[in-house]
Amino acid sequence: MSMVNREEELTRSVEEAARQPKNLGEMESADAVGTAGRSDCGDMLRMWVKFKEENGRRVIDRATFQSFGCQTAIAVASIATEMIRGKTAEEALAMKGDELSSPLGPLPPMKIHCAQLVEEALRSTLDPSANKKQISTTPSDISGPTLADQLIAKGEGKLKITLLHKNDTP
Ligand code: FES
Repeated sequence: MSMVNREEELTRSVEEAARQPKNLGEMESADAVGTAGRSDCGDMLRMWVKFKEENGRRVIDRATFQSFGCQTAIAVASIATEMIRGKTAEEALAMKGDELSSPLGPLPPMKIHCAQLVEEALRSTLDPSANKKQISTTPSDISGPTLADQLIAKGEGKLKITLLHKNDTP
């Protein structure tokens, strides 16, 4: 397949996945929540996870997300929140950005960090030690302003707002 066709196909699959993202929105009764942000592009992603017991294992029942990010991050988050259902936290944490975005096909170099943003949000949600590290190295405190407030404060008009509820509590 030529490079142009490959790019067109990727654009189409990203647009399709981002147009009607699955699992979008805050989860009221989540067991875990995490946030990741990229200082280079200003995009952010928050994830919620609910667990259930299945055959003696604690597995992910469902996951949702809110994104202030590019279409690729939304598309990958939509796919990832479907992919991790039924997995344990350890199994989900073992999944890297390229695996989470694999249904879209290989991402071009400039879009690889979009899938990594999803991977980081997942790690922040499922690995409490990663969360602590993130809080200490990220200027935005997830226990403080809402994700919307943090992004509005950035004053970047290019951000695509897909938040369903403004008063999200971490
Ligand atoms: Fe930054 Fe996609 S451009 S997450």
